[in-house]
Amino acid sequence: MTQTSIIGWERDGDIVVLTIDDPAASANTMSDEFFGSLTATIDRLEEERESVRGVVLTSAKKTFFAGGNLDDLIATTPQDGPRWVESCNSVKRQLRRLETLGIPVVSAINGAALGGGLELALATHHRIACAQGVVVGLPEVGLGLLPAAGGIVRTVRLLGLQRALSDVLLSGKRFRPREALELGLVHEVVPSVEDLVPTAKAWLETDPDPVQPWDVKGYTIPGGTPADPAVAAHLPLLTAQLRAKSKGAPAPAPLAILAAAVEGAQVDFDSAGLIETRYFVPLVTGQIAKNMIQSAFFDIQTVQSGASRPAVGTKYKAKKVGILGAGMMGAALAYVCARAGLEVVLKDLTLAAAARGKGYAEALEAKAVARGATTAEKSAQLLHRITATASREDFAGVDFVVEAVFEDAALKQRVFQEIQDIVEPNAVLGSNTSTLPITELAEGVHRQQDFIGIHFFSPVDKMPLVEIITGKNTAPETLAKVFDFTQQIGKVPIVVNDSRGFFTSRVIMTFLDEAVAAVGEGVDPAIIEQAGAQAGYPAPPLQLLDELTLTLPRKIRHEKRIALEAAGGAWTAHGSEAVADKMIDEFARPGRSSGRGFYDYDKAGKRLGLWSGLRDAFAAGSATIPFRDLQERMLFAEAIETVRCFDEGVLTSVADANIGSLYGIGFPAWTGGVMQYINGYDGGLPGFVARARELEERYGARFTPPESLVAKAALGESYR
Ligand code: NAI
Repeated sequence: MTQTSIIGWERDGDIVVLTIDDPAASANTMSDEFFGSLTATIDRLEEERESVRGVVLTSAKKTFFAGGNLDDLIATTPQDGPRWVESCNSVKRQLRRLETLGIPVVSAINGAALGGGLELALATHHRIACAQGVVVGLPEVGLGLLPAAGGIVRTVRLLGLQRALSDVLLSGKRFRPREALELGLVHEVVPSVEDLVPTAKAWLETDPDPVQPWDVKGYTIPGGTPADPAVAAHLPLLTAQLRAKSKGAPAPAPLAILAAAVEGAQVDFDSAGLIETRYFVPLVTGQIAKNMIQSAFFDIQTVQSGASRPAVGTKYKAKKVGILGAGMMGAALAYVCARAGLEVVLKDLTLAAAARGKGYAEALEAKAVARGATTAEKSAQLLHRITATASREDFAGVDFVVEAVFEDAALKQRVFQEIQDIVEPNAVLGSNTSTLPITELAEGVHRQQDFIGIHFFSPVDKMPLVEIITGKNTAPETLAKVFDFTQQIGKVPIVVNDSRGFFTSRVIMTFLDEAVAAVGEGVDPAIIEQAGAQAGYPAPPLQLLDELTLTLPRKIRHEKRIALEAAGGAWTAHGSEAVADKMIDEFARPGRSSGRGFYDYDKAGKRLGLWSGLRDAFAAGSATIPFRDLQERMLFAEAIETVRCFDEGVLTSVADANIGSLYGIGFPAWTGGVMQYINGYDGGLPGFVARARELEERYGARFTPPESLVAKAALGESYR
């Protein structure tokens, strides 16, 4: 009889309390040691079954059980397939033993039970969650995986195919205890952690039957199996919905989940488990899951932990934020800051304009009150924190300035000059410019060390990313303050050095340029849009460009050209330029805001269809290039431009590049971010370089792989 270190065994009369506590880790995860411990614990329960009335399973860690070990998952290679088959099936066998021992087992869920944590709890007969600090769910789909410790088999049998799939397995949603109770994932919710074990014991006192619903004689899957005509009729719809959602982009996990659930619902419990494993192995040994785990866990953690924050000063908290310009960005930013508890002064040219800006917060709050998401009192307090003004004197006491006036360098400098002597002596002076070089803007203020770029994304209340741009003279203390401020308002900061377009705007332009150039080459625009969507971009390129308007990239390009030529450089025209010029100057179709762009729009701004005139204007449809080339021109253009950003010192952190590209500019999620795309490309860096050379040969020097990349590839390294 082993008493293992991971699952503690404590007897209280005829009840055994098992406490999971991995001393070697901060969270309980699936490891060989845990598995050994689980097996030994079940052996012991079997031996002592005569004297055990029931079992309580709980955890000594903050999380109940975290599931798969991420380091292990990310290091998996295709050769590990057989090992995964063996380990998934062994875990399933042990969990099956636990639920069929003939002893009632209750999970006392004291913290997050996500993925493997919930799968473990689902193999027990009763689940009690604490109302505080608990979330449950099967988020594997978001990591390109599926729950492979019986999660699909059990949720389908517990909730029925339809609900298990839409609510839990395909949504990857994390449920709070009350929601989990409503859904049927847990049976009871108790107010506090202290209530868990006593409530579990009380349940055991009722002498419950130690039988899972699916092991009761005569059990049928709720809602029916795929053999039932009603279910069968609904299933093709699910497949169609998944395909519509992915728009043809690589998304193997949802389809694998659907198949494992449907096939598993037609066979016995154990066979369903084997099917689940069979669908899991290609996912776990494939590249997409590794990409998604890398970004969703490792890179985001690196970014959030402050790896790019200089280690100066204590943690900063802004008190009073002054926002210059109450337009689209300023108004939304005022709302986000007030929501985070900050005092906000929102200034525009006139009081009426500033008040209109505040109206953004008022409208959103009114909606939140109406749907019960906040109270009228809290909402009034929030709105009270925003002072709309046209007077610079109201900037007295401001310790953090964000400027969001029109994109005009002279105007930006002027508005800073107006307030720089009124705000606190060392207030941060931040500009939300999306393209203007920070160092040049800083030249307009006395305190260049306090000047910095803080680039938000629209809509500010929804987009999590903030790109912080340091100018030549920005002090490390200023950067540290801004980093802390972005976290204070609940955003994700990445840090880049000054450059025209910084990182995000500069890189996204290369994606759009490829699409526009292809129009000029005579490719059918519908195919171009399809290529973007199937590559996994959230919005097809021409559609996105219409939103931005074609004039904006032209202005940026023009400024870039002037700067380059002033520095003695020679400008190489991109194929997109002539197309954009023609669209703007000849056809007066600059984009959606004017009702005409690559697409037609109705009076209300609703997109109708691609402009039929494109065919005559650009011989569109007269040329075909391989579909894969079209997709990879977009992906490679962005990836290569990002490498150039590293070469020029604009970027210094791979995690920042990955997270910035995913959160800021819609680089396809399955890639794990723009640098991870290079790492994970078929054949690794050498494979990427070889393919870049092919594209270079076919489409031009912009695809020439940068020397630093070629050198890294030759060394067998990847971007870390
Ligand atoms: P907007 O045109 O909606 O708002 C600009 C506001 O500044 C207007 O309300 C205008 O009255 C005000 N303004 C002009 N002169 C002023 C002065 N002297 N004092 C006070 N207010 C003055 O522009 P939007 O879209 O909000 O953009 C603002 C800045 O944010 C620009 O630099 C833009 O490049 C940048 N940005 C915009 C993004 C977007 O998606 N629209 C994304 C990221 C950055």
